Order: sequence, then structure tokens, then C-alpha cells
Amino acid sequence: MIILGLETSCDETAAAIYDAVSGLRGHCLFSQVETHAPFGGVVPELASRDHIRKLLPLVEAVFDQSGVRPHELAGVAYTAGPGLVGALLVGAMAGAGLAFGWGIPAIPVHHMEAHLLAALLEPEPPHFPFVALLVSGGHTLLVEVQALGIYRILGETLDDAAGEAFDKGAKLLGLSYPGGPQLAQLADEGHPGKYTLPRPMLNKPGLDFSFSGLKTALALRVRDKGGSPGLDHRDRADLAHAYQEAIVDTLVARSCRAIESTGHKRLVIAGGVGANRLLRERLAAGLSRHGATVYYPRTGFCTDNAAMIAFTGCLRLAAAPDAFGDLHVMARPRWPLEELRP
Ligand code: KG4
Ligand code: ZN
Repeated sequence: MIILGLETSCDETAAAIYDAVSGLRGHCLFSQVETHAPFGGVVPELASRDHIRKLLPLVEAVFDQSGVRPHELAGVAYTAGPGLVGALLVGAMAGAGLAFGWGIPAIPVHHMEAHLLAALLEPEPPHFPFVALLVSGGHTLLVEVQALGIYRILGETLDDAAGEAFDKGAKLLGLSYPGGPQLAQLADEGHPGKYTLPRPMLNKPGLDFSFSGLKTALALRVRDKGGSPGLDHRDRADLAHAYQEAIVDTLVARSCRAIESTGHKRLVIAGGVGANRLLRERLAAGLSRHGATVYYPRTGFCTDNAAMIAFTGCLRLAAAPDAFGDLHVMARPRWPLEELRP
């Protein structure tokens, strides 16, 4: 079974081809980061228009890269949500249109489910069941993954997502968009212990997160220093260090508690913040004390990509071959993970 996957939920346009027998055959991605950078965030209308321009050339490129021809495909998977509605519609219409033209099923894929399963694309994949820490720009969730489509949310953020916290912190420090990776890089130059920032919710029971108080604490420190233009490089790096430590500590402590409370021995990291080096190191160290192992997608598949969409589409089509034949086009900006079924 060979599946073409399309991703257009936010500001990355991507196409990939996954083969159930030989694995990933090809993947291409175009990031719109330069388009949105002058605005300090993703502009939905510009995102949709750019997806329209880039998606079909990427589909052609992934056919060239993989050597696969359309008649070999068993289906076309596209991200149907959650995401920006205009951006989703581009991928949904293209996916459903191509599938109809080729006489094969179109498979609407849940973007967060695809992130949860991305680590299964790696050479030594985790087995079900596992706990997943899903940390992206829009979501921060701890999820118990029993099997395909059987997900239980153990905890989630009550306010900002972890990636959002990285991005907003970066903005406060005067870094340009997209700030998360830049803040992480700058933090490496910072001195440990120069500043201490709070770890919100860490003393509370349960598995929920909160990052808005941390962001406020950073804003106050920056204000005390006379505002972001008044910060020298040293201060910026020291504050970035303290800020990253606080986010990572919170994520690691909650993940360890999730492993303790479920008794599972595998933790899977998913989503863009999963690319963060400190988070990876601290989680590996923290979880080894609980006899648990951490699994990651390769760095490029932590952030948005079409390989995870093609792969999830393949699993979904194999699980329900007759479920995807109709002409229904699906684009759901809001789509709770708990609504998914096996
Ligand atoms: O999963 P993703 O590509 O998009 C969403 O679906 O949201 O995640 C993007 C988020 C952004 O907030 C970005 O700042 C953050 O992931 N991110 C990082 C790093 N790389 C990406 N945050 C911290 N450290 C990184 N190295
Ligand atoms: Zn994502």
C-alpha cells in the first residue's frame, strides 16, 4: 500500500510518499517562515495563498524524488484539522481532487494524531501502549496512546502551549520570529543561576500545565531592566537560559509523573518543541530513573511535515479499507483528539 500525504494546516506546505512495505519513499517541504516573519506571526490569508502556489509543485517533486507513479498509489491522505481553516481547505481540496481524479480514496488525517505517531517512522519505533508528550505551537498535551485511535488525555495546558511560551518569551527578549529555536540557541550562551523564574503548577497535583505566569515573570524581569531594547546580549542570554530551564523543568516533571501514574515504560515526544535539545537530554535522564525510555521522531519530523500524514493515512486506510471511498471533503479547524476512534 503506497500513500501520498499532504500537509497544509499552518505555515508549512509538504508532500510525502509512504510505502507500507519499504517505508518512507520521499518527502518535500516548503516553509513559509520568511513570508510571515515581517508580521511576527502566521498571517492566515497569506498562508492559504502560499499553499495554493506551492502544493502541486511539491507533489510533482515528491513523485520525482520517490520514483513512484500515481497509478501505484492506494490513497491520498491530507491534513483535515485542526489548523487554519483556509490553509486546511487548500490541502483538503487538492487531496480530495487528486484522489477523485486517480480513482482512489482520500483519507482525512488528524494533525495531532499524526504528530503522536511520527516516532513510529523511525528505525526502532516504540510499541503501543505509550505516553506521548505533544508539545507544539498550538498544543501541550500528555496523552496515553493505547493503540491507533485509542487516546486518553492525561493532562494539557490551561493557557499557553509550550511552543507558544517559547515564541512569546523570544518576542519579549526582542528576538525575531519564529522565536522558539532562537531562544533555545541563545539560552546555550546564558549563565546558569543568574536568574530564576517560576515553574507554574509544579507543586499542584495532576498532569496539567500552565505557562502564562512564567511569561509574565519574564516580562517583569525585562521591564525591570528597562525593556527589551535596553538588554545587552549577556542579559538576554541569561534570561533565555532561565526561561528555557523553567519550561523544560515543567515538561520533564509532568512527563515523569505521567509515566509513574500510568506505569508505562515508553514516552514519545511529538511536536515542534520536541526538537529542543535540552528537553531531549533532560527527559532521557529523568525517565531513565523510572526505568522508562524516550522515543523521538527525527528532528525534521518533530515539526510539521507530510511524512507523518502519509504514514497515518496508511495506517487508517489499512485499518478501514472501505471507510474512505466517498467524495466528502473535510476541513475542521477545531477537532478534539478524543473524538477519534480506532
Ligand atoms: O509542531 P509545530 O511545527 O507546529 C505546530 O503545529 O504548532 O511546532 C512549532 C513550535 C513553535 O512554537 C516553535 O517555536 C517551536 O515549535 N520550536 C521550538 C524549537 N523548534 C521549534 N521550541 C523550542 N526549541 C526548539 N528547538
Ligand atoms: Zn504541528
